[in-house]
Amino acid sequence: MSNNKKEMVVTPWEVSGEIDYDKLIENFGTNKLTDELKQKLAKHAGYLHSQLKRDVFFSHRDLDWWISQYEAGNKVGLYTGRGPSGDVHLGHLLPWIFTKYLQDAFDADLYFQMTDDEKFLLKENLTLEQAIEFTYENALDVIACGMNKGKTFIFSDTEDISHIYKLGLKVSKKITLSTAKAVFGFTDSDNIGLTWYPALQAMTCFLQSDREKKNVPCLIPAAIDQDPYWRITRDVAEKLGYYKPAQIHGKFLPGLQQGGKMSASQPETAIFTTDNPDIAAKKVVAAFTGGQQTIKLQKELGGNPGICNIYAYYYYLFEEDDKKLQEIDRNCRSGSLTCGECKAKLSRMVKTFLIDFQKKREKAKDSLNDYFIK
Ligand code: TYM
Repeated sequence: MSNNKKEMVVTPWEVSGEIDYDKLIENFGTNKLTDELKQKLAKHAGYLHSQLKRDVFFSHRDLDWWISQYEAGNKVGLYTGRGPSGDVHLGHLLPWIFTKYLQDAFDADLYFQMTDDEKFLLKENLTLEQAIEFTYENALDVIACGMNKGKTFIFSDTEDISHIYKLGLKVSKKITLSTAKAVFGFTDSDNIGLTWYPALQAMTCFLQSDREKKNVPCLIPAAIDQDPYWRITRDVAEKLGYYKPAQIHGKFLPGLQQGGKMSASQPETAIFTTDNPDIAAKKVVAAFTGGQQTIKLQKELGGNPGICNIYAYYYYLFEEDDKKLQEIDRNCRSGSLTCGECKAKLSRMVKTFLIDFQKKREKAKDSLNDYFIK
């Protein structure tokens, strides 16, 4: 059976099969992001981000409330994170680029959690020391996305534990093992560290409020795989005297091969920010497309951008100009654009992007310390 016919699985640890985003809204009990809400975000930002225009961010909980708090003159905050188990890939950058847009629009503080504990507990072959090393490596990528200094608080669950442990304990006391089992599917053979970990991912929703000693509405921009955490957090928030966190959910950038999302656990299907730009360009050339088997057939029948990963990269990240995007779509369908030409153009764009991003990443080394929580 080919990958894309497999049943959809979306959990914090696995995303596979053909993803039906409308179904996820239904299954997870979230709300579709309406045009009205997108326009409200655009009003505060000064422009409509392409990730909104193109429904890359497509679902939410309580985003209307979070914006209304801001409009009423209250301070609002942002929270997102990373499980540092390896290098960062282009998929991870999607929510971070969008987070920067929100940070600027709402002048918000951002709490950015590095879950080196989670990844150590989860990954058989990852040592704690390696996970911690990736915390600092991956933080360079976060900073390279342009997060605002003085308003961004990155922290490692392990190295900065003194800032978070007390709040983590308060949250963990409100979550029973049976809830954790029901939501995350833990079994008796899982290590006990993993069953405690969700308290720490939940805790960060309240961290700004806890530190500032007043309730600050929190919004979490992330792909929808992280949603189970927010469901348990929302259940305990009011019991602890905090607002329920709001969410805005993103879609997944696909991998270079057919089906699923870009994932570091399948490195051959991912483009990492640390890849040699020439090697990344070659990966693009080898990617799955929605084109025909031969150039002759492509010219006769045209391709299908709807199932094409190369087109997805243009759509999600690399072609911001709507007219140019439509042109790619039209020329692909009519057969006048071959996959070879389309891949060659994208591979040049990926290369340029990586060269530029890697410069920013290098520069971030000078200010790494300034971004960590004090
Ligand atoms: P992690 O490291 O798996 O993912 C980091 C962020 O990237 C998103 N993501 C993707 N987005 C688009 N396309 C993809 N192919 C793709 N793959 C991953 C994830 O949704 C996430 O937003 N447990 C978390 C770390 C964490 C966290 C958080 C994430 C702690 N607190 C709060 C988001 C919000 C993790 O392992 O993420």
